[in-house]
Amino acid sequence: MDLSATDMLRVLSEATTTVTEELTDAALTVHGELPAGIDGLYFRNGPGRFERGGQRYRHPFDGDGHVTRLDIAAGTVRYTNRFVRTKEYLAEERTGRMRYRSFGTNLSGGLLRNLLRLNFKNAANTSVRWHAGRLLALWEGGAPYRLDPATLATLSQEDFDGGLASPFSGISRWLAPLLPFSAHPYIDGETGELTNFGLVSGSPNLLMLYRIGPDGHMDEPRQHPLNRFSFVHDLGVTRRWLCFLLPQADFDMARAMLGLTTAVGSLHIATERPMQVLLLPRQPGSAAPRWLTGPPGFVFHVAQAFDDDQGRLVLDLVRYGRYPELDAIEDLFRDPPAGVAPRLERLLLDPAGERCERLSLGADADNHAFELPVSAPAAAGVPRRILYGIGALPERRAPYLTSIMRLDTETGALSSRDFGLDLVGEPMLVPGTGGDEGWLLSLVFRAHQDRTELVVLRARDLSVQATATLPHALPVGFHGCWVPRSELAPAAGSPDPLDAMER
Ligand SMILES: [Fe+2]
Repeated sequence: MDLSATDMLRVLSEATTTVTEELTDAALTVHGELPAGIDGLYFRNGPGRFERGGQRYRHPFDGDGHVTRLDIAAGTVRYTNRFVRTKEYLAEERTGRMRYRSFGTNLSGGLLRNLLRLNFKNAANTSVRWHAGRLLALWEGGAPYRLDPATLATLSQEDFDGGLASPFSGISRWLAPLLPFSAHPYIDGETGELTNFGLVSGSPNLLMLYRIGPDGHMDEPRQHPLNRFSFVHDLGVTRRWLCFLLPQADFDMARAMLGLTTAVGSLHIATERPMQVLLLPRQPGSAAPRWLTGPPGFVFHVAQAFDDDQGRLVLDLVRYGRYPELDAIEDLFRDPPAGVAPRLERLLLDPAGERCERLSLGADADNHAFELPVSAPAAAGVPRRILYGIGALPERRAPYLTSIMRLDTETGALSSRDFGLDLVGEPMLVPGTGGDEGWLLSLVFRAHQDRTELVVLRARDLSVQATATLPHALPVGFHGCWVPRSELAPAAGSPDPLDAMER
């Protein structure tokens, strides 16, 4: 089914409606057979508030972070939702008006209201992850916020016992006392080690690298200077390497500082030029950094990374031939430019020869949009044969993603389940046992029905096993995590979150 731009824009408008109620532990009615093997918590984050004081955010990444919690056990589902109480959110709640600039939205009132206003809102809206007894709401431009996993109450901004304290001085530290911590931390499924990064603009531009052990202790951050400004959303982690794809980007700092444009309006990504691939050793000092020339385009997400037996690095990623201008989504849908649909593909990187080769993952992968890639939790650097994501049928011209996708990277076989006009959310894998692939959870926005459903699919064939309608419609969100109940142990010194809930 092809869709008109009018259809798509109408549904997107429906799916970006502010959430107006916060519910606690609401029981959902389940239709179908919810497998008993699904026992744990599905957390997901995304923008939940799209206007403040009558002013609407102009970019889909600007809405205030809103986290959902689905507690699934013995065939039942209970639902809790909360906004993340960042300090900016609380200040705007108190005054009822927009007080901070966002990534793609300036304050109304013109130049004078935006001039030199450099304290941007931490939207805390991109992901929510569980690590070492902490539930973290993440946004790549700032520090995370820690949430209570039982109630989703915002506990504090998380600085990892001072590990995220800015080591810089002057205006840099005054503007950002804490370092940025990206929304795509990588957690090694074997060791429990968390690897993450943050980009610090300045002279030089810096890539901050973070390692947090399974005990929750953050090592002193590493710094790696970049030779130019860039924009990175995700990384690849293997046993040996940390891999970053750095597009050729320019940021007009003067225009952004003066408030002449929004931050996103000051950003230009030259997707016609090759990305730089930066390889850094995972263990500090174990190898020299390598710079390789990558393909042109832009990458938000890395699906997986591993080292092959010839010392090369294999990277599966979602590449755009052209940066999607989401602040001009009407133009994007009415006349989608070539290259704006995301494609899953493979890079073969040879650190010794400093070569990068682009490989196809099959004709189906070449012809289908694919985004929000997900794979089974495993040790870092262990190849995953199956990748899941969201996508679209090949005839769809604009990046309007309504299918759950499954790609076998060995055979190139791609299967999908399409939901017509309905917008699907990131498929969250609940691993099965005994070699079973498990299940996928997706929050699906039902077009023209003002409702959102939890849809549970069997991972191996994408058949729908069960659905449960949420008490209210949820905007399409970004990323989340699955936490098996057995992993929801309290952090040292913290009350048991499940006990706290029962009280
Ligand atoms: Fe992302």
